[in-house]
Amino acid sequence: IRDRVAQLKEEAARQAVTYVEDGMAIGLGTGSTARFMIDALGERVRTEGLRVCGIPTSEASAEQARRLGIPLTDFVNHPILDIAIDGADEVLRGSLGLVKGLGGALLREKIVATAAKRFVVIVDQSKLVDKLGTHAPVPVEVTPWGWERAAKWLGETGARACKPRMTRDGSLFITDNGNMILDCHYPGIDNPDELCQAILAITGVVDHGLFLGMASEVLVAGLDGIERLVP
Ligand code: A5P
Repeated sequence: IRDRVAQLKEEAARQAVTYVEDGMAIGLGTGSTARFMIDALGERVRTEGLRVCGIPTSEASAEQARRLGIPLTDFVNHPILDIAIDGADEVLRGSLGLVKGLGGALLREKIVATAAKRFVVIVDQSKLVDKLGTHAPVPVEVTPWGWERAAKWLGETGARACKPRMTRDGSLFITDNGNMILDCHYPGIDNPDELCQAILAITGVVDHGLFLGMASEVLVAGLDGIERLVP
């Protein structure tokens, strides 16, 4: 099954890369689906001589892009991106609100998504939900100093548990920005807009993994092909 899911992720990724045109500045997402997208983009750069440049949302994606010969840029040279392509952990049917950040890159992902004229999300069908918070916790990026206070206040927003993210080897996970992530488990989010405001009002919170009203479209790869959802 895992192989099949990987195949679906790759299909969505390849479809999104067909949107890329010569001369574009592109936001490069993070995660296993985005990795397929960066691979496919690198292939087009190599075989078609496509001239593009990218702003990566993580050190991992930057490293992959460099290795594939995709030139990188920054917001000084490209304050506005033509397109950003990224994965997601949950996609809400209808409004296309997202939960992102299980890969830990949510802050740079949000900065890049908001800088793009078109934000294309690529997922396999298992990511579609009728309520955000169904499977995924909401990752909240917080300053390491005083995180215990933020965790307490996050609890007041209805989270059942807010746990510091750890790495596989048992040490504290630190983001590319030097912050911590608190994974906040909500028992299904009834009002995502309200929750966004409540989380952002907490001192020490840098940002969170709810991406509302941001996706221009979502490409969902399923067993019957790719479905293109628009909000
Ligand atoms: C990274 O921080 C995340 O937002 C990813 O975009 C998200 O976790 C999707 O990951 P996969 O493509 O690996 O499922």
